[in-house]
Amino acid sequence: MTSVSQKMIDASQRAQKRLAGRDTPFVTNCWYVAGFSWEFSRALRARTILGRPLVLYRTAADRPVALSDRCVHRSYPLSASTLDGDTIVCGYHGLRYDADGQCVEAPALQTCPRGVGVRSYPVREQGPLVWIWMGEAPADEALPIGDWVSDPAWPASQQSYHLPASYIALHENLLDLTHLSFLHANSFGTPDFASAPYEVDLESTPGRFVLTRSVMPTRLPPVWAEPTGLTGRDAARITTSEFLAPSAHVVSARFYGLDVPEQERADTRIMTAHLVTPETAASTHYFIHHARNFAQADPGVTQFMNDQLAVAFTEDVVGLTKVEQMIAATPDGDFYEISLNSDRAGLAMRRWLFQAAHGAAD
Ligand code: FES
Ligand SMILES: [Fe+2]
Repeated sequence: MTSVSQKMIDASQRAQKRLAGRDTPFVTNCWYVAGFSWEFSRALRARTILGRPLVLYRTAADRPVALSDRCVHRSYPLSASTLDGDTIVCGYHGLRYDADGQCVEAPALQTCPRGVGVRSYPVREQGPLVWIWMGEAPADEALPIGDWVSDPAWPASQQSYHLPASYIALHENLLDLTHLSFLHANSFGTPDFASAPYEVDLESTPGRFVLTRSVMPTRLPPVWAEPTGLTGRDAARITTSEFLAPSAHVVSARFYGLDVPEQERADTRIMTAHLVTPETAASTHYFIHHARNFAQADPGVTQFMNDQLAVAFTEDVVGLTKVEQMIAATPDGDFYEISLNSDRAGLAMRRWLFQAAHGAAD
């Protein structure tokens, strides 16, 4: 006998059909982070993005390149082949491809067959990030994240994780700040976070979902209390969590001491770009760029915050991995989820993602 009524289960399973899930196609017409700029090097690197195997490298003239990894002759991986100048020589029968993916030499033939090559994908470099456009539509002019990621006024550190879980679950996690009090109880969560007042903006811009949570008075966790000098003092922590695109989510937080008069409060902020690139339906490349606008000249602060945040982001990776394993172990017909009012930003995002994937979003 289930403890959830059959009526609720039926309603959940009906709603589920219009939410993006593990069988929803990827939104391909979008810039995704393919890797950090230093991952595009003079060594060939294999990476699967949106279910497609790619080979990544950088030309001698410093241009990042992303090509289909599958040799069109007999499917040998180009990433397991040889980079010769700016060309790749396939490790099986030696077809040579240039940086645009064109086959320029076939050793077994006098002349290279015309019109043969592997697909090359548009890439754009932005500070430490290299973006890729995998869709059929012309690439958008604008990238999903502003140029603050390369602004020296915002010193930053980067991390990346291979997450064996759905990118949709990661996006939902990022729009859900209630989990900070529990999953992150030992890192950057505080007990007052889950029940603090919040506001959502789910409609003013199509495809953009914003949640703002104000926690005050609170005590900041060490990751921000130490560098801001707010250890042991009553503080305000105002966090805005913003889904910008299927590939990008930005969290910004402002902190100040409540003992400081309003007109004297510094604009002390951190900005974290969570860059979410599906590998497959159930695995994700999770790139993070974490920046701040205080203690800019102190690399020790960069290192301290990076180390502390690595603990918290690892908690998300471990938690979402457990969720994915549980879903995989649940028989199809038995699966349902009971959503709470506090989940409405995540639900709005999943409804939009479902429509975007099926070509019906605004
Ligand atoms: S598989 Fe690449 S040349 Fe034959
Ligand atoms: Fe988290």
